[in-house]
Amino acid sequence: MTLPHPPRRLPLLGDPVTMNLRAPMQALVDVAPRIGPLFETTTLGARYVIAVGADVVAELNDEKRFAKHLGPELEGLVPAAGDGLFTAENESTNWQAAHQLLVPAFSQQAMRNYHPVMLEVAAELTDKWDRRLGGAVDVPADMTRVALETIGRSAAGYSFGSFEGTGQHPFVRHMIGVLKGSLVEAFLRRSWLPKWMAAAGAWQVRRHGDQMKLIVDEIVEERRRSQGNTDDLLALMLRPGADGTPILDEANIRYQLITFLVAGHETTSGALSFALHHLSMRPDVVDAAREEIDRVWGDTSSPSFEQVTKLRYVRRVFDETLRLHPTVPGYFRKARHDTTLSTGHPVQADDWFLVLVGGLHRDPLWGPDPDEFDPDRFLPDLVRARPGHLYKPFGTGLRSCIGRQFAIHEAVLILATLIRRYDLTANPGYRLRTSERLTAIPRRLRLTPTIASRTLPRSADVDPAKRYV
Ligand code: HEM
Repeated sequence: MTLPHPPRRLPLLGDPVTMNLRAPMQALVDVAPRIGPLFETTTLGARYVIAVGADVVAELNDEKRFAKHLGPELEGLVPAAGDGLFTAENESTNWQAAHQLLVPAFSQQAMRNYHPVMLEVAAELTDKWDRRLGGAVDVPADMTRVALETIGRSAAGYSFGSFEGTGQHPFVRHMIGVLKGSLVEAFLRRSWLPKWMAAAGAWQVRRHGDQMKLIVDEIVEERRRSQGNTDDLLALMLRPGADGTPILDEANIRYQLITFLVAGHETTSGALSFALHHLSMRPDVVDAAREEIDRVWGDTSSPSFEQVTKLRYVRRVFDETLRLHPTVPGYFRKARHDTTLSTGHPVQADDWFLVLVGGLHRDPLWGPDPDEFDPDRFLPDLVRARPGHLYKPFGTGLRSCIGRQFAIHEAVLILATLIRRYDLTANPGYRLRTSERLTAIPRRLRLTPTIASRTLPRSADVDPAKRYV
């Protein structure tokens, strides 16, 4: 299949644009409008076919013709995440069993159960920021704390102690080691460079992955020792099935827990950080959000589940953030059988494609100013008027994100808590840049919180009696 490619391709080396090692996906998003809707890139021999146009992505999302593909990057994660939901093959019996078992953990009722935990973590964040008023805070680091605590306590009743002391829990360091290692390994494995170079990336994934396994084994052991009667995700996995043994085996439970702890925080923390950056630049958006929060939350110090779901404008802020900065920058699709795309390109069974979500989210159908941050793009009438396949931050089809509602509830609650309480000032001259380690996160984003001119009570008080293992 002959396809267009980025400009200035070099013999052997390939496309210079993809050599932006800090943010290769973002670099492709920037050039895509000049090449799309379907193009190829190659770097040192590693080739990707990339889809950004709304029509071609709609075809790739058709579950009858295409399915999820792990792609080189997710394959690189397998030594650490095994056949956990994210990295399982479509045919995996463990995927079927775990999906069926865990879907109820994301029902509306389950979300209600997580709500108090989310409030509690929000309060720990505001406690921390209150102690630092007037000084700059490291936004991605604090959003990582928030998201890791929220998923740790909700999924496994486990606190990583992220708000105690100043450092991050070792889990975060090992996770970053795994994500970065898999990126390097995936690229080198498919390049013409000597294979021992890829082996170094694979070694990094295994080394950090082994440390993550030790951490989650400890969490599972602790749960077994305490025989906690919680109703969370870990409890669901450990509960005996009809034959008296757990439905998932030991190894799979470990992989699922690693998957949820990583997928459940790394994506949300980046999205929250990007949203706070935009809020610091847009007082008009902050004013509109505050007006809504005041109206819906009144002076309550502890908003209810429903009061969070009613924040439609804050939700639009989050939707628009994920449009401009999909923190999972792409997903892979492979052909179930031979077919031809509407662009005329023939496709053979198992040919695979990378859907570059940031490119799709800047398709001309978004209007003349796709790089502008405008939450009102997500007004209900405008959403209804757009094709469904134009907005895909949570992936597509059967293998789309199981934690979507969890992420949305958590993000709206945290954003509203922060908007209500603080004015956030950016460092003079800060220019947003993205770092990628499979997921995207803003680079060196520092903001200075001060108490908002119109201050209402904090969202919740932490119950000091509540202890986590
Ligand atoms: C803003 C936040 C989030 C974003 C942008 C996001 C994005 C995605 C995307 C794009 C996929 C599909 C990947 C693919 O097709 O290869 C996915 C899958 C998944 N996500 Fe999320 N996610 C987010 C939050 C969460 C949360 C909070 C959880 C857990 C609580 C979670 C758990 C998962 C799992 C387990 C899968 C694999 C589903 C399967 O294949 O069965 N995600 N996510």
